[in-house]
Amino acid sequence: MTQSVVHVTNVDKVYGKKGQNQFRALSNVNMDIKEGEFVGIMGPSGSGKTTLLNVISTLDSITDGQIQIDGTNITAMKANQLADFRAQKLGFIFQDFNLLESMTVYENIALPLSLQNVPSKNIEPKVQEIAKTLDIAEILEKYPAQISGGQKQRSAAARALVHNPSILLGDEPTGALDSKNATSLLETMTSLNEDHGITIMMVTHDAHAASYCKRIVLIQDGELYKEITRTGSREDFFKEILNELAELGTNRA
Ligand SMILES: Nc1ncnc2c1ncn2[C@@H]1O[C@H](COP(=O)(O)OP(=O)(O)O)[C@@H](O)[C@H]1O
Ligand SMILES: [Mg+2]
Repeated sequence: MTQSVVHVTNVDKVYGKKGQNQFRALSNVNMDIKEGEFVGIMGPSGSGKTTLLNVISTLDSITDGQIQIDGTNITAMKANQLADFRAQKLGFIFQDFNLLESMTVYENIALPLSLQNVPSKNIEPKVQEIAKTLDIAEILEKYPAQISGGQKQRSAAARALVHNPSILLGDEPTGALDSKNATSLLETMTSLNEDHGITIMMVTHDAHAASYCKRIVLIQDGELYKEITRTGSREDFFKEILNELAELGTNRA
């Protein structure tokens, strides 16, 4: 049996204090992500995608229910434990890369390990290995200003993965990219998933981005209401996603 990397049980998230303007952003959410999956969370703006990602990535707390990551119940953890847990178990891919301009690519990638006080002799082989995986071994001594957009993305992905996290998480990671760079990032994520077994959860409202996933969980008004799994080509999956979205629009109107 493949282990669940993410196990979400009956999760509610209500923003705001009792008696004030409360808003239920997640309602009885149940979901599971297994090792090696590439899962997309898709839904219209305001449906609760970011909220779901934030509670799974331990950045925000839940109101009710339980979340387990790699078998650990994060719901019961304290803030300082959560910070360590996040640093060790999770990898984040950001919209704007977040590379530090004053550091080389090598130093950027090494940062999560340096922050965990990993001895530098142990850092180097890890950086070299992930740099090789992402085909950026030749640019490690360069600064972000000296490399291309695609290389920046792959450097950011390397930094997200250098500590060997249980899951790579992204909230609309292609949101700020032009279509060429978006496609290149999605192809990189596909290769990380297919060739290197990296488990990925990506939030997106974009059908093209979602079509790179193997499974998509659809969310509307804070509730998961449907799941679709890719069986054929990405192009066919893209059409299927568009049909789902069209149906959603019709139901709403
Ligand atoms: N901090 C907050 N306080 C109150 N309401 C919030 C907060 N964050 C998000 N919301 C509301 O929760 C709903 C879901 O938001 P979000 O998860 O960001 O949606 P999505 O990422 O799908 O666009 C929205 O209606 C939003 O206005
Ligand atoms: Mg969002």
